[in-house]
Amino acid sequence: MPEFDNYRDNYHDDINAAIRFSGKSQAYFTQVKARYLGNELTQKFGANNNLKVLDVGCGHGDIHPFIHQAYAGIELTGIDVAGTVVDEAASRYPENDYRVYDGNRIPFEDETFDSAFAICVMHHVPPPQWEQFLREMLRVVKEDGVLLVFEHNPSNPITRRIVNNCPLDENAVLLPARQLSDLCQKTGWKDVRNQFILFTPFSTKPFEQLDRWLGAIPLGAQYFTKGVRRANKHTRL
Ligand SMILES: C[S@@+](CC[C@H](N)C(=O)[O-])C[C@H]1O[C@@H](n2cnc3c(N)ncnc32)[C@H](O)[C@@H]1O
Repeated sequence: MPEFDNYRDNYHDDINAAIRFSGKSQAYFTQVKARYLGNELTQKFGANNNLKVLDVGCGHGDIHPFIHQAYAGIELTGIDVAGTVVDEAASRYPENDYRVYDGNRIPFEDETFDSAFAICVMHHVPPPQWEQFLREMLRVVKEDGVLLVFEHNPSNPITRRIVNNCPLDENAVLLPARQLSDLCQKTGWKDVRNQFILFTPFSTKPFEQLDRWLGAIPLGAQYFTKGVRRANKHTRL
């Protein structure tokens, strides 16, 4: 049985217990990431375009309402290996499309989506499968489409403390940002960049701005790695 089927009911309580000392809830951190995602899509595609977007490892779909707020016009699909959490997401957010899959082959045709993202998923995927995970995301994204992978930053001591205290991270293997960006390049993603986020747990405008200024410094609690799918040289001929 996929690991996260065991956490259908206590997933949110376990995370909130591990981060309680920060004074913020899981919903807060989820909202911050939705805003980053919305900004990245806006920068790439302009505002409020009709985009097809895939969330790989969507869990309960917690971020989906915030994504609809951050970027209007998205057609959202969520996939996950844990059937019980996918069922939960589907009943909470019937406006989106949810599917269970085997964790190996994404159940969509090549070049279906404008963007694919994964949030705090890869550290739950066994390391020998990391390349396949990123290659599958590349396969289903259209030319010029965008990859966004959000991960915990193992260089941040507070993040390590949270992960060590969170039961659902018992088997997690954290990826340093450099390793993830190298893997993205190796699997065919182009223009790969890392941006560090969540330097403070404060949500007022000046602190949000500070977060953006510090983005190149590898100390934020989390980071995201972005990449673009470029046409293969032979398809340009
Ligand atoms: C910490 S949860 C994150 C859920 C969601 N992305 C979020 O941020 O709220 C990790 C999720 O990754 C899923 N997962 C683990 N291995 C996976 C794989 N190979 N492919 C897709 N999802 C996977 C788990 O079932 C779980 O729902």
